[in-house]
Amino acid sequence: MDAFVIRGGRPLSGSIRVNGAKNAALPLMAAALLTDHPVILRDVPDLTDTRNMRALLVELGCQSDTPVAFTDPLSAHPAAHADRGPTAPLTLQTTVQTPHHARYEIVRTMRASVCVLGPLLARRGRARVAMPGGCAIGDRPIDLHVRGLAALGAAVELDAGDVILTAPDATGGDRRLVGARVYLGGRFGSTVLGTANVMSAATLARGRTMIECAACEPEIADLARLLTAMGARIRGAGTPRITIDGVESLSGADHTLIPDRIEAGTLMAAAAITRGDVTLTNCPLDALVAFTETLTTAGVTVEELDARDPLRARCRVRSDAPPAPAHVTTQPHPGFPTDLQAQTMALLSLARGNSVLTERVFPQRFLHVAELVRLGAHLEHEGPSVIVSGTERLIGAPVMASDLRASAGLVLAGLAAQGETTVRRVYHLDRGYDQLDAALASLGADIRRVRDGVPVAPARVGDFPAVPVVA
Ligand code: EPU
Repeated sequence: MDAFVIRGGRPLSGSIRVNGAKNAALPLMAAALLTDHPVILRDVPDLTDTRNMRALLVELGCQSDTPVAFTDPLSAHPAAHADRGPTAPLTLQTTVQTPHHARYEIVRTMRASVCVLGPLLARRGRARVAMPGGCAIGDRPIDLHVRGLAALGAAVELDAGDVILTAPDATGGDRRLVGARVYLGGRFGSTVLGTANVMSAATLARGRTMIECAACEPEIADLARLLTAMGARIRGAGTPRITIDGVESLSGADHTLIPDRIEAGTLMAAAAITRGDVTLTNCPLDALVAFTETLTTAGVTVEELDARDPLRARCRVRSDAPPAPAHVTTQPHPGFPTDLQAQTMALLSLARGNSVLTERVFPQRFLHVAELVRLGAHLEHEGPSVIVSGTERLIGAPVMASDLRASAGLVLAGLAAQGETTVRRVYHLDRGYDQLDAALASLGADIRRVRDGVPVAPARVGDFPAVPVVA
């Protein structure tokens, strides 16, 4: 199993491009199931999650002629990595419209497999998807997805841990969903992938669907852009009310993903925690307003260098002093993103004073707290909040990653800690960051990947066990 060995204390500096967004890629890829025509996606990040999604789509009758490119091994050289460019375009084309089962063996490796539910149901009239179960960040039910699709007329059954949805009979023997008003609010706000599922399904439903309390995340707006390019009629994506007028069929499209706001935020926090000076290109500043506001409150300078496109900006992040404390509450977009909570906790653990971080999206997402304490952070976990009493220094130690973003928080803490930090189980991190180790090394960090104690080159995704492709 891979680990990162980090010697902290080096300020990061230089320039780096932000990759395409993982959380946009997964529902965009699933949308290829809605049509028989090719869907071309550009800047899909090369990650275990996107590879597993591709394997699932192949199992569901989709061909993927253009593989997601492996990163050139030479780019493991830090300087080359700093100029990392977009990946090769990914072409997906559905050629067999009959399979409709997303098996547990696949879904359990990647919860986001659930986003095939809406497309399968809409195009094939039937979907059987294993319920993902909980994970390190909480229970993660899919009741809102199912409730939304049931509102479009789907019959719901449960069997052997799978949810089975069937669209109502339509004329001509087809099965087709029926547009309706759908409310997607839950205890913790709306649901991102639930909104993606219902919006995708409604594109082929008969009549009009109005999603109320829709997720407003930029990834939903990006999915709507792809679906619209495919011929769907969607208004309001990115707001709490989305209106979809169903069409008979969808065509293919060629679409470039939005940049990854969470990768961007992680790199910004890395610049801040090391008191460095980093310029990000392809940075979705417009989608990071709550986060940059917090950085600014903490005394970090965030400067937009090129304001032509705030979704793909060039921005400079720098800091030369310990952060000021801040109070942060995670919320659905445009609030502070839960996916940057762990990284922000690492930063504020070095603040000159006390901060409070409250988690309102995944109230149990705090497995990194005990690990940060091992590095010398002063943290007190109280219900959905953590009180952070800033300390002057963190001290390197071995720590264990528990989930994707928690791992990023530990890596950031390691970059600032005195001495050596070993972050074990970085396979969590490799699910969602393309060679974060090489990216940070290109900015001057002293970070090495080791496997069973032996140094290895920054991992390529092919080095990780992917779900076997059953074509
Ligand atoms: N929820 C329900 N019922 C549902 C669905 C969600 O109660 O049917 C609850 C969840 O338990 C949670 C809240 O609603 O408390 C929000 O969950 P949501 O459904 O919005 O999360 P998701 O769509 O499963 C996506 C991202 C997550 C990100 C969340 C919130 C992808 C692939 N995943 O998950 O990303 O944290 O939205 O922004 O898009 C990550 O990248 O590390 C990650 C976990």
